[in-house]
Amino acid sequence: MIISLILLFSSIFEVSKPTSPEDWKLIQYVFDSSLNGSEIVVQCKNYYLTRVELCSLRPQTWLDDNVLSTMSDAVTLVKKKMKYPLNWYLPISFAENTDDPRKCISFAEKHRIKENYMLDLLCCEKVFVPVFDEERSHFFLYVLQLKKKVVEIWDSFAASSQSDWGDRRLHNLLVSLDFLFKDDIDQKYQNVWSFKDFRMERPSNVPQQPNGYDCGVYVIKFMVAPEEVTNPDFVFDSDNERLEVALRLLASDVNSCSDDLASKAEAYCEQRFGNCENLS
Ligand SMILES: *[C@@H]1O[C@H](CO)[C@@H](O)[C@H](O)[C@H]1NC(C)=O
Repeated sequence: MIISLILLFSSIFEVSKPTSPEDWKLIQYVFDSSLNGSEIVVQCKNYYLTRVELCSLRPQTWLDDNVLSTMSDAVTLVKKKMKYPLNWYLPISFAENTDDPRKCISFAEKHRIKENYMLDLLCCEKVFVPVFDEERSHFFLYVLQLKKKVVEIWDSFAASSQSDWGDRRLHNLLVSLDFLFKDDIDQKYQNVWSFKDFRMERPSNVPQQPNGYDCGVYVIKFMVAPEEVTNPDFVFDSDNERLEVALRLLASDVNSCSDDLASKAEAYCEQRFGNCENLS
């Protein structure tokens, strides 16, 4: 019975992991490409995602960089609700401007990157900076470890990394951070501390992607679960990871569309499948 229904509705989005009926309905609704692609399905503070952008989380699909920025926005909002946020998660647009430190600084000032994404420098442990490498068409991640004064490069396709491009960008990024935090550094470290003195490291235990399309999804995973991915037993299941990112964004209470979306998904499933409890 269930199988014949699935065949009947052949464009049903296959959900490979156990999912609650509510989540299953959400997934069917947002991933139905016959619906309005411009509909906003995730709205955080500074970034939002349309259906078309979120659909870049479909299996084997190249990730839209707005998904990365919206994830940084969502994680930052969640962390800000906690008492002691220790990590900062920057939108990918920050590193996009590091071809020139002046451009990077003015971008940060215009978009209030420091106020929105970076909190107290003294409390900060790690800064996650997603990067898009235009030469390789590849997403990777800088992890700044403030206590150790180290920048780790988390690259799921390390064999292809061209140090020249990355080194220049990284230098500009660190110089820009020194400028943005000049007052804090002067006050708290009496000027003897600076981002640009950070040492670069390439950890050898970063999982490597077996395909050409998952780099953006790896970057999100590196940001939200760095301990999990470096566990020797970790296995990256692409379809599941994509689904998890979608649900994390859609069902999050920092998604201001989430209530609205849940009722639209309910009505959509009711109309499309009748009582769809059996399908999930
Ligand atoms: C699609 O969604 C956008 C954004 O919500 C809206 O402005 C537009 O009118 C919708 N188009 C249709 C055909 O419903």
